[in-house]
Amino acid sequence: MKIKEIKLEELNPQKFIEEKVKEISSNVGNDLAINALSGGVDSSVVTMLGHKALGERLKTCFINNGLMREGEPERIVTMFKNLGINVEIIDSKDAFFNALRNITDPEEKREAITKAFYKDVFGKLVKNSGAKYLFQGTILTDVDETVAGIKRQHNVFEQLGIDPEETFGYRIIEPLVQLRKPAVREVAKALGLHEEIYNRPPFPGPALAARVIGEVRPERVDTVRKATRIVEEELRDSGAFQYLAILHEDKVTGIRDEKRDFGFQIEVRCWESKDARTGRPTRLPYDTLDRLAERITTEVPDVVSVTYNITTKPPSTIEAI
Ligand code: XMP
Repeated sequence: MKIKEIKLEELNPQKFIEEKVKEISSNVGNDLAINALSGGVDSSVVTMLGHKALGERLKTCFINNGLMREGEPERIVTMFKNLGINVEIIDSKDAFFNALRNITDPEEKREAITKAFYKDVFGKLVKNSGAKYLFQGTILTDVDETVAGIKRQHNVFEQLGIDPEETFGYRIIEPLVQLRKPAVREVAKALGLHEEIYNRPPFPGPALAARVIGEVRPERVDTVRKATRIVEEELRDSGAFQYLAILHEDKVTGIRDEKRDFGFQIEVRCWESKDARTGRPTRLPYDTLDRLAERITTEVPDVVSVTYNITTKPPSTIEAI
């Protein structure tokens, strides 16, 4: 079934909120529902809409998959606590790292994460909580890219002919599936979410695993996590659409303390884009690039090379996997 887009210029955020709250209430009735909050604008909006409609009958979890950025679980949970919404952190690191062991192919990684999330972690959570519905923040761009076979987004099923009820034992409700990102940001604003949420650069569902080329192991995620913090600190005021660090699989020869060092390569990407469908690299000042290289090679253990991506999307994509 073709999804009818609600374009930014047609969107009335207050009306959209009222309609979705009504729709959620009537779909869920007196049952329980559950959702995962990652802190991205999509899952934050879904959390707010769901709680407006269902109150305590919606259980919101932050799945700590071990692939998040520094301090992220605690920061997001505190932010929502301040909005009156309780979020439970579920430590699922082992489930994800076990699922990712020995996998290097990008699409297989995405599939492993999807399976760990929906089957292992959420399958159990839903069973234990008695929820019948899972809310999630799939948007129209996720559906487009998956259906076009560009990248399998972790949260798209029905459009691929997968029946979640049969496969996972619960129904999935996607209140944002008619919107693209700029429209979701308008709804977030209207819901009273913090600017840090609605103006946040996008972050992929598979989290830092989308930025590790080769096997996703805890220590490799740690390397990319440290580089990510530096890139985000340095480029926060760049005005760019999205900026990220990628860990390469191959090591290269470097020199440290006048001795040969065989270390990691980090690639920095910084994008100008409107909706992530196409993009071009930001023409960052050379001083900024210098500072990035200096900080990453001194603050992230074992990194001896930092490169800057100069390719447009297409043929590149925004993330590495
Ligand atoms: P790509 O790498 O496909 O990314 O050019 C396009 C935009 O989507 C984000 N991204 C994802 N978002 N689930 C998401 O919700 C995913 O699996 C996923 N993969 C990529 C990416 O960060 C960029 O903004």
